[in-house]
Amino acid sequence: MQVLALLGSPRKGGNSEVLLEAVTRGMTQAGGRVETIRLCELKINPCLNCGGCDSTGECVVKDDMTALYPRILAARRIVLASPIFFYNITAQAKAFVDRCQALWSRQRLLRAKGEWQQDPGQKGFLLAVAATRGAKVFDGATLCMKYAYDAMGFLYGGDFLVKGIDRKGEMAANTMKLKEAEEAGRRFMA
Ligand SMILES: Cc1cc2nc3c(=O)[nH]c(=O)nc-3n(C[C@H](O)[C@H](O)[C@H](O)COP(=O)(O)O)c2cc1C
Repeated sequence: MQVLALLGSPRKGGNSEVLLEAVTRGMTQAGGRVETIRLCELKINPCLNCGGCDSTGECVVKDDMTALYPRILAARRIVLASPIFFYNITAQAKAFVDRCQALWSRQRLLRAKGEWQQDPGQKGFLLAVAATRGAKVFDGATLCMKYAYDAMGFLYGGDFLVKGIDRKGEMAANTMKLKEAEEAGRRFMA
């Protein structure tokens, strides 16, 4: 089963990356074929709201996002990992999400022709880490990703969110949480 793992943190070896590794380890154990993509190493321009995708379902902007569209559509599971930056996913991850507007247009056009079918086997997940412990610290990111996966045509399968993680190395030091994350990864494949 094809798994697309998207890393939204600009910090190499950072907390989101360690969390993503644990979750994808579990997904691999459960039979997933994981492809990990560092969004921060790609050139993904922000959406221009040019309306170019309205009638075609395809984005007119040609950059590294172009090669990602078919990989999104072919995946059975997508897992996006991001640190919380100002109560949401990072700007790099958000640029990726905004460019999924083309997939929303594609879905709308297929619906209009009666050719859209929700595939219940396509599920998306959010992994996030935050320095603080506020009750609402993940609200922005979870809401954003629920609608992002909806645009991609994926069901929101759930999340794994860790509070109180800030400096590089803190996630790696939390072996208990990482074990839970690995277990969550196995569950995400069900
Ligand atoms: C620009 C910026 C904004 C941040 N905003 C928040 C925030 O709103 N809430 C929070 O709890 N932590 C915030 N943080 C802390 C990060 O979420 C935290 O350091 C996280 O562990 C970084 O994960 P990483 O190593 O994967 O990049 C922010 C950090 C930066 C650099």
